[in-house]
Amino acid sequence: MGKRLVITVDGPAGAGKSTVSKIIAMKLSYIYLDTGALYRAFACKMANERISADDEKQLSDLCAGIDISLKSVDGDIRIFVGDEDVTEKIRTQEIGMLASKVSAVPIVRKALLSIQRETGGDRGVVAEGRDMGTVVFPDADFKFFLVASVAERSRRRFTELVERGESADFEEVKRDLILRDRQDSERKTAPLKPSEDSIIIDSTDMSVIDVVEDMMMIIQGPGIE
Ligand code: DC
Repeated sequence: MGKRLVITVDGPAGAGKSTVSKIIAMKLSYIYLDTGALYRAFACKMANERISADDEKQLSDLCAGIDISLKSVDGDIRIFVGDEDVTEKIRTQEIGMLASKVSAVPIVRKALLSIQRETGGDRGVVAEGRDMGTVVFPDADFKFFLVASVAERSRRRFTELVERGESADFEEVKRDLILRDRQDSERKTAPLKPSEDSIIIDSTDMSVIDVVEDMMMIIQGPGIE
């Protein structure tokens, strides 16, 4: 059996991280770790308990008692807060924005760090997020950073929301995306940025299959099972 790799995929919202990470994890029979889902689940809990992203005391209490987990249910990865399955609930625009806002708070990042490392660990993982290659898995075997134009990313996000049956306005989706990019890139703790050793792929004019093929070609060197 060859070495089980840690592969990280970072980048801004709508760059195609989830789609390609899931496919690559499936091809390699690896764990797919969606770290954005953890921040979204945290935001979901905050929204339920009406806790503001500016209230450090309440956030700290929430961090101390938070129980977020990723479980495999019938071959599908589902996300739970306590016993509640929040997999679908976390996918709204509002939760995405709140997740982006609260993800700038260092105690929240710290609280979610151990869950990410425990899930990924040494078992063969494709970890997707904003700081996978820089902070969570700095020693990853392959680090990718996906980018795409704002127009293309907005189009993808808009289509995704519509397909999920959410009412969405294209201009609003685009505005939120630009704001989220700024929040995620300008925060002090673990900002969105490529690590020096990451491979940058611009997926603006590429199909999902092309992006996956390029990544697989880079990954499939000697030493993989
Ligand atoms: O990838 P996503 O859209 O589901 O992520 C939602 C927000 O969570 C994103 O805007 C910033 C935050 N996030 C983060 O700060 N670090 C990560 N590793 C993943 C997500």
